[in-house]
Amino acid sequence: KRLILIGPPGSGKGTQSPIIKDEYCLCHLATGDMLRAAVAAKTPLGVKAKEAMDKGELVSDDLVVGIIDEAIKKPSCQKGFILDGFPRTVVQAEKLDEMLTKQGTKIDKVLNFAIDDAILEERITGRWIHPPSGRTYHTKYAPPKVLGIDDVSGEPLIQRKDDTAEVLKSRLEAFHRQTEPVIDYYNKKGVVSQLHAEKPPKEVTSEIQKSLS
Ligand code: AP5
Ligand code: ZN
Repeated sequence: KRLILIGPPGSGKGTQSPIIKDEYCLCHLATGDMLRAAVAAKTPLGVKAKEAMDKGELVSDDLVVGIIDEAIKKPSCQKGFILDGFPRTVVQAEKLDEMLTKQGTKIDKVLNFAIDDAILEERITGRWIHPPSGRTYHTKYAPPKVLGIDDVSGEPLIQRKDDTAEVLKSRLEAFHRQTEPVIDYYNKKGVVSQLHAEKPPKEVTSEIQKSLS
């Protein structure tokens, strides 16, 4: 299947992705993860993206469209993919349509992680991640066995630089102003499933499974 996950910061996109990926054998393309890797490696892309990311603003459409264009052509993504955090503007959605039309494919489903803004600060400020695997923890909702350590590898966990209450405000503003119109764009195509993203992770997973069956 070819899926898009849309939702505000902390709505659970990254948490649900590995589960859907395992079940449907898709490739997981998360533009935020790819950009953070580029920033850490100080590549030309990373250097260009860093300032906007630190402020909680969107990186330019050209940069992210370029990343996705390259990634979805890969052989491993031919059977399907999960787009996590892309498209985030209507321009990005239109470019994606062009790419897929060229391939003779289309989006099967857009999962809308609907949730109230008020819940998100606690989710974001409590998050710890293990970048090599993408595993995500939360001090209250999904604590690791040992504080600051990944359960599986024993490697250290980190907190994201943009996971502060202050930067979250700009990220939410960008979501409402630039990304919500993308939901309307796909609503018109009739491919959106609305999730109750405030529920516990397992319940969200079963809502996703139902909408994909
Ligand atoms: P990105 O990395 O995409 O960040 P985001 O959209 O802000 O989303 P998050 O990763 O914060 O949230 P999530 O939904 O994945 O939450 P998670 O599952 O981890 O983007 C970062 C930046 O990159 C952007 O600001 C922008 O600058 C740039 N960028 C990326 N893509 C771009 C694009 N297309 N165009 C332009 N710029 C782009 O969950 C959060 C926490 O809550 C975790 O601790 C988790 O354990 C916990 N949790 C999850 N689900 C539940 C639940 N059901 N109940 C309780 N706790 C839960
Ligand atoms: Zn994420």
